[in-house]
Amino acid sequence: MELQASAAQALKSIARNEQMKSYIQESKDLYPLLARAARRYVAGETRDEAIAEAMELTARGYVTSLEYIGENTRDQAGCEAAHHEFLQLIHTANQAGIQHTISLDLSHIGMVVDAELAYKHLAALAREAGLHGMKVMISAEESAKTDQILAIYRRACEDYANVGITLQAQLHRTERDVEEVLACRGPIRLVKGAYQESPDLALPRSEALNARYLGLADRLIASGRSVSIATHDEVLHQAIRQRGYLQHSNVEIEMLYGIRPDLLKRLRDEGHRVKVYVLYGREWFLYFCHRLSEYPPNLYQAIVDVVMPRDSKEIGY
Ligand code: FDA
Repeated sequence: MELQASAAQALKSIARNEQMKSYIQESKDLYPLLARAARRYVAGETRDEAIAEAMELTARGYVTSLEYIGENTRDQAGCEAAHHEFLQLIHTANQAGIQHTISLDLSHIGMVVDAELAYKHLAALAREAGLHGMKVMISAEESAKTDQILAIYRRACEDYANVGITLQAQLHRTERDVEEVLACRGPIRLVKGAYQESPDLALPRSEALNARYLGLADRLIASGRSVSIATHDEVLHQAIRQRGYLQHSNVEIEMLYGIRPDLLKRLRDEGHRVKVYVLYGREWFLYFCHRLSEYPPNLYQAIVDVVMPRDSKEIGY
């Protein structure tokens, strides 16, 4: 267990290593090898691949969130390009006629360069998504960015009812933030939190974290806002079920593409509202490391996927 915890910590540190990320992305040998393993969690490199996967999932009874993956864009041109890709994503999704939520990191579309740029891009995406009945969900990032993210969300939700926010149960501050978020509008996604944070800022994975997650879920669901229970934790699913929340029309269970599809499939078969979070693009390094660190046996799976690539159609949903 100690070795697993150390491996998880090491993977989270690797995830933040920009030099290693660039090295892998530029390596003609390493990139395709690791991309095979990442493919289990990422629908593909292109928008078309993601839309095709989303259409397949829709046909199987799931709703989807779509993200063009990326974060921490440090130049204006990169932010404009990401914004343009998200606009195209909204158009392509609309043409495909499927019900989508668009998810994004504000640091992908401008927040690292200038908060005003991120707001401008978010507002344009919210407007465009709104025309097609879609929502835009803002992801949660490291706690150092939380104030800025919440400020942009608060501003956006004054003008756009289709902008939602993600809250991390692991952060101590979330118990205060939740009240502020409930004073705004739009959907709310509740996650445990993927980032490595110090104990003065966050709880580690534990029963205490699960108890806090449930307390926050109680508060959010009672408010009547649209709530996404975004976790793969069966203990939490069970607790949510026992509270009768799966019968509430404002509650859905949302899980990441490629993680425990069997679990989501079971919930779908029982008739519950289920959503799959589908990502695409080339910037999967950090995301992939997080998925390995959360469940270190995935390292073995990654080795298998590199050596014996699976049929990409075999998604298990
Ligand atoms: P936890 O990590 O405690 O895992 C519980 C159980 O779930 C494990 O024992 C295992 O069985 C299974 N499991 C979990 N991860 C697995 C994996 N990688 N492979 C296989 N099994 C696994 N985070 C963030 O910081 N900002 C964000 O914006 C988002 N957005 C987001 C959207 C959606 C839809 C989801 C589902 C998750 C996020 N996350 C996120 C990630 C989230 O914070 C968290 O890191 C992961 O969901 C893993 O935590 P769990 O809640 O699954 O519990």
